[in-house]
Amino acid sequence: MSAQVNVDTAFGALETAQPLAEPQIEAKAQELLAQLSLEEKIKMMYGDVSCWTSLIGMMSGAYGTKPYVAGQVHRLGIAGIRFSDGPRGVILKGATTFPVAMARGATWDPALEERVGDAIGKEMRALGANLFGGVCINLLRHPAGGRAQETFGEDPWHLGEMAAALVRGVQRHVMACAKHYALNSMENARFQVDVTVSRRPLYEVYLPHFRRVVEEGVACVMSAYNSVNGAWCGHNKVLLTDILKKRWGFQGFVVTDWIMGMRDAKAAALAGQDLEMPFRMHFHRDLPRLVAEGEVPVARVDDAVLRMLRQQVRFAQGRDPKLYDRSVAGCEAHRRLAREVAQKSIVLLKNEGGLLPLSPKGKVAVIGRLADRPNTGDGGSSKTQPDYVVTPLQGLRAALGEERVLHADGSDLGQVMAAAQAADAAVLIVGYTHEDEGEYIPPNLLARVADVVPPPTQAEAAQLQGVMQSMSASDKTVGALSVGGDRTSLTLRPEDEALIQAVAAANPRTVVAIMSGSAVITEVWRRRVPAILMLWYPGMEGGHALADVLLGKANPGGKLPCVFPKRAEDLPFFDRDATAITYDLWHGHHKLERDGVAPAFPFGYGLSYTAFALSDLQLERAEIGPQDTLRATVTVRNTGPRAGDEVVQLYVAAHGSRVERPPKELKAFARVSLAPSESRVVTFEVPAPQLAYFDEQWEWVIEPLEYEAIVGAHSLDPQALRARFLVR
Ligand code: BGC
Repeated sequence: MSAQVNVDTAFGALETAQPLAEPQIEAKAQELLAQLSLEEKIKMMYGDVSCWTSLIGMMSGAYGTKPYVAGQVHRLGIAGIRFSDGPRGVILKGATTFPVAMARGATWDPALEERVGDAIGKEMRALGANLFGGVCINLLRHPAGGRAQETFGEDPWHLGEMAAALVRGVQRHVMACAKHYALNSMENARFQVDVTVSRRPLYEVYLPHFRRVVEEGVACVMSAYNSVNGAWCGHNKVLLTDILKKRWGFQGFVVTDWIMGMRDAKAAALAGQDLEMPFRMHFHRDLPRLVAEGEVPVARVDDAVLRMLRQQVRFAQGRDPKLYDRSVAGCEAHRRLAREVAQKSIVLLKNEGGLLPLSPKGKVAVIGRLADRPNTGDGGSSKTQPDYVVTPLQGLRAALGEERVLHADGSDLGQVMAAAQAADAAVLIVGYTHEDEGEYIPPNLLARVADVVPPPTQAEAAQLQGVMQSMSASDKTVGALSVGGDRTSLTLRPEDEALIQAVAAANPRTVVAIMSGSAVITEVWRRRVPAILMLWYPGMEGGHALADVLLGKANPGGKLPCVFPKRAEDLPFFDRDATAITYDLWHGHHKLERDGVAPAFPFGYGLSYTAFALSDLQLERAEIGPQDTLRATVTVRNTGPRAGDEVVQLYVAAHGSRVERPPKELKAFARVSLAPSESRVVTFEVPAPQLAYFDEQWEWVIEPLEYEAIVGAHSLDPQALRARFLVR
């Protein structure tokens, strides 16, 4: 027998600095497969550790201490899959905490997102993980969705482009995992809800961004907890095999969502599930027998293992191990990047009378419950552990000096009024925390798990009882994780709304900064204050970034990645306890525009301290064939006094389609930085197949019609430029 090879590093014996060509990667994966026994192969299809013992550890605080490992084979130096989470950075201690994905969606800047991915990928590898679980691309169907902050927005095109950029960056260093496939857009009901969807909304709205990351070469896809059209996503052959692997040609592997992501070994294996995570559960217990009895073919096991080996070989090789020193985690360059991203993600929604930027010479009152609270996002699986978090108060103090910053936490109205009146401007920090929104970790999680996974041993059962007793003492946290869930309201908390009214009355120069994972309804108070901005959950450097924007050191250029409605009734039906729901074509800006309902702030909207003008929209050809590409150019000019960024957006409307279509759909965008008076010609390309709709019978149909390119600064820009073209 060969000597054991130490694989207790992220890449084991497969790691080489020399890149392998594609055929060599495939040959190496096949060679390893041929050396594995059937028993070893089956073992590669589930997590390496025992279910209940690990679960108990996880619930008592071990979550986020090390990667989850599956399929390590010492004999052959196969290090296995080493998973760690995201999306706002690597969750392991000391890694950089970036603004949440929704904030990064607001940058509309794929090149910047690729740099974020690059930083995350490096940190992942340096911390001993090889699979990043943070490419969360569930479409924001409704802003109450608990995990809204983990995704990039509501629009499939924008979401796909941002996700592809994250994958590109991460996969320079490690494998990336896109999740949760598919239609996992509500949170509290995620373990129970069945989503009914017909093929048109499935292909046009809920899957394009998954397809986009598959085209980008994503190594792994995580199946979702919910069921779709009556089949759990973890057992869903249509999704996993027919669409993902066959239709799209996905070469990577599918992993379950954790613990409750699959409930039956045979159904899952036959549907195309490759890896059950994170523990020894159904595959461990049932697969050896199912394979021995011929109920799951050996060929299916080989296929699953080959998929994992292929990606492991691909990502182990060709990268210089010396680049991945642990000191890269949370390093200065990455923290600087976190600050830049936070600056670029801030969306200025209102700025009457040019209140912002504030003069660095005046006094500022920083007010509110969240003014001095580290608030980087929810407390679920994406919870990071940064070395510090700069709060808004700390950021403003660092920028202005202690003496020019007054502070009131909002609990004492007298103190609030005194601070607001004594300052030249008041900055109110309002919004949500992990208590209001986030991944839903049910307080009775262990009991629910017991319903779906094989039972614990006697010793485990005794330990379990202890943990469950300690957990029921609190309904706000589950071990180190918080309960989270879908939001119960789209407006701010009543105390925040009352505070805004009070402060606005005391100081007319009031700025409201909102921390949140998605849209907020602001109707009760938005006309009472001159300035509003979206801060989202801005990461560990967020306080500095806020100060940079408030004081004009950075010019805001973020744009909303989701529509901000005036009323909850304008949105699709949402019941956070639903057991069944139907998803159709209509949500977000498409729905509001179809219904003729004006939003509070449109999709794609955001102001700047400078001004921009678009001119000279030109189409290369007025008529194109169904396989051609539409090329459009437009000039964008900075007409104001400061350098700044504009996000130019190209939408297409189909005129006279035989089916009902969204009034217009985003097809391209570009974030452009311009000095005062500078102008730039932006070129957009839209392949005609992007204009197709999905027909239940004929599948993708590119209609020969007249279309209209609409180029503007947001989805409802009254100054947008328009040009018509024909598709033959
Ligand atoms: C979440 C996933 C996450 C996994 C592992 C699950 O509960 O839904 O997004 O990657 O836990 O942390």
